[in-house]
Amino acid sequence: MRLAVVVLAAGLGTRMNSSLPKVLHRLHGTPMLQYVLNCLFQVRPEKTIVVIGKHAKEIKASLRNADSVTFALQREAKGTGNAVSVALPSLRGFRGTVMIVNGDTPLITAGSLKKFVGLHRKRKNRISVLSFVAEDPGSYGRIIKDDRGRITAIIENRDATEIQKKVREVNSGVYAIESDALHLLKDIPLNASKGEYYLTDIVRLAKDRGFKVSAFCIGSEEEFTGINTIAELREAEQMMKQRMVRGWQARGVRFIDAGSVFISADTSLGQGTTVYPNVHFEGSTRIGKNCTIFPNVRILDSIVEEGATIKDSTLIEGSVVKKGASVGPFAHIRPGSEIGEGARIGNFVEVKKSVIGPNTKASHLAYLGDAKIGRNVNIGAGTITCNYDGHHKHITTVEDSVFIGSDSQLVAPVKVGRGAYVGAGSTITKDVPSGSLALTRVQQKTIEGWVQKRRKKLKGARSGKH
Ligand code: UD1
Ligand code: CA
Repeated sequence: MRLAVVVLAAGLGTRMNSSLPKVLHRLHGTPMLQYVLNCLFQVRPEKTIVVIGKHAKEIKASLRNADSVTFALQREAKGTGNAVSVALPSLRGFRGTVMIVNGDTPLITAGSLKKFVGLHRKRKNRISVLSFVAEDPGSYGRIIKDDRGRITAIIENRDATEIQKKVREVNSGVYAIESDALHLLKDIPLNASKGEYYLTDIVRLAKDRGFKVSAFCIGSEEEFTGINTIAELREAEQMMKQRMVRGWQARGVRFIDAGSVFISADTSLGQGTTVYPNVHFEGSTRIGKNCTIFPNVRILDSIVEEGATIKDSTLIEGSVVKKGASVGPFAHIRPGSEIGEGARIGNFVEVKKSVIGPNTKASHLAYLGDAKIGRNVNIGAGTITCNYDGHHKHITTVEDSVFIGSDSQLVAPVKVGRGAYVGAGSTITKDVPSGSLALTRVQQKTIEGWVQKRRKKLKGARSGKH
């Protein structure tokens, strides 16, 4: 059985009161249209056509999988019926079921859509509508039925009589239409009250021709909430959050205070991981099994492997933290870094575009930028890689088992060879051969009895004065 999908995303979104196209408004950092597409990909249609309008460029640029869909341009937002017509050239030659989905229903799930298409096919319908019962039917189209309970039409709220307005079974905006019924689109009349061609009118047209049409009331209001206003967007975001948290909890993630945690749609959390309050997982982030993420941590576009600990108030961006490593408190791991297995990055340490080898420690107050640091290295407090000469960035290489004493500067490009020692307070400008000690400290001068002598001198001066 063949299946194609048309997503309607060309509306103006006037009720959002925003210059951003409606379908690009974000829930937990991801545009609502992206959720709809992610869900549709799971249904595996052979073709997905997205109807977009005057914001075409922005929409294409904002989607992750823009290559795997066909875009159809609706130049003017002349209604949902017109939007589907615009997709028809991309469906030329297609024979099978065409599922239509609104781009403003980000909470839909693949399971419901599959079930719906299954019912549509089982009943051998020409047209099916997925409906649900709304607490307050508001602006949804009402499912109008005859006295035998068969759908006869969908009437939009603005065109409904007072009696019709009371109907609580409403149109979700998901339809299944056999390709041989799509010709009905051209018979959809212009709706005078809105000046648009309503896709919903296809139901009445199909019934007039004696086509088999039914509404399957299998939706829940939560899943099929259509977003038309900013307030609805926020409500949907809350529902999405609850759904995500429940999903991760079911997979063995423990939240100390789920309400204060932000989880992007592209985050995955491993079983046995504990997440403390006020943690943000952003972008595409993967947290392995049995990790502990302490309060006030923000991790974006990063991978944290199994058993790692991220301590309080740490920011990790575009980096990898390997198995069993520990980062923070108050650390900043900037893009392009890799913190090796079992390594420790402690208080007030900034790492940028650097590889920190396994079991290496930089426990306090350091800047490690453009550095390649081997395994079992000890980076003393106050160590700084001077990677920038005002024009270019240079690399610092620190080989395995090196000891860098506190308050040292490594002026790049420079290399400290395997097992070497750098004495505390040194400024290293030349390569240090392996196994050697490098020290640039000035020799300490000690004047014995100096304090007493000074006191005497001061006392003498004072008694002279009086
Ligand atoms: C629509 C349905 C309504 C249903 C509701 C479900 C119609 C006439 N009404 O109403 O029965 O209960 O969805 O959420 O279809 N779009 C275009 N081009 C256009 C107009 C709209 O692509 O010219 C797109 C929008 O971007 C949106 C979708 O179609 O993603 C639905 O349009 P919208 O204006 O939100 O319709 P509703 O009034 O919500
Ligand atoms: Ca809508």
